[in-house]
Amino acid sequence: MFEVLESRMIVPNMHQLVFDAPAVAKAAQPGQFIIVRAEEDGERIPLSLSDWDAERGTVTAIVMNAGNTTSKIAALETGSRVPTVVGPLGNASEIDKFGSVVCLCGCYGIGSIYPVARALKAKGNTVYTIIEGRSSYLLYWEDKLRAVSDGIAHITRDGTIGFKGHVSRLGEVMASFNDRIDRVVINGCTLLMKRGSDETRSMGIKTIANLNPIMIDGTGMCGVCRVTVGKTTKFACVDGPDFDAHEVDWEELFQRRKSYVPEEARPLRTSRSEKHKCRSMKAGA
Ligand code: FES
Repeated sequence: MFEVLESRMIVPNMHQLVFDAPAVAKAAQPGQFIIVRAEEDGERIPLSLSDWDAERGTVTAIVMNAGNTTSKIAALETGSRVPTVVGPLGNASEIDKFGSVVCLCGCYGIGSIYPVARALKAKGNTVYTIIEGRSSYLLYWEDKLRAVSDGIAHITRDGTIGFKGHVSRLGEVMASFNDRIDRVVINGCTLLMKRGSDETRSMGIKTIANLNPIMIDGTGMCGVCRVTVGKTTKFACVDGPDFDAHEVDWEELFQRRKSYVPEEARPLRTSRSEKHKCRSMKAGA
């Protein structure tokens, strides 16, 4: 069993969990992930590693409460125990001296890009971080990202911080750094990665996306995480999760990610409608 050393909501719907998992912490590298089960017969949920401390033996993951299973992980209390924290899984991100690198992140990817940016900076790159979200109140870890970045910018849908609008403004945001960008790394939801890579394709900048398909075993056995990259079938868990974003078949990834949306949402809808029913009954309806 693995102890949950910390569990807290850091911004609405986004939870920071720290697990006691010394063997994982010892081997963790940027870009890798873990698989967690909240209960013995629960689903296996892949979570990108957002940080770790090899000395303390801890690993940190950011979880978005997006459905039945992730809500169970998000609801874990500090001091509770989970049966599974397996990893580190997947390949480490390529960390080399590329020159100037933009780290574009949103959602849970704000957390998972942190170790990537940190390693790129340590390797001698100039690192610019762009944090994207609907509004400033949904952004987090700016202090950590700022500490490993030479520049930082924001894109928010409501314009409460930084550039107002969508990632379609990526070119303008990157131009604000007044530097030639050699590489872009994107972590976050599928839409952010697709749209971000659409923008960088026309700029001719090599772009890496940390893919997030549905997974089961995380070790290349089940085939659930298959993606098409450069017209070739790949397993994100063992061939990735980092891939050349300009080679990814994004439409297929969107379709495959939608496969279990009804199942994931149903228990939430049920519990909401049950609550509603109860309230209605209490009200004498
Ligand atoms: Fe099963 Fe990748 S998760 S093959």
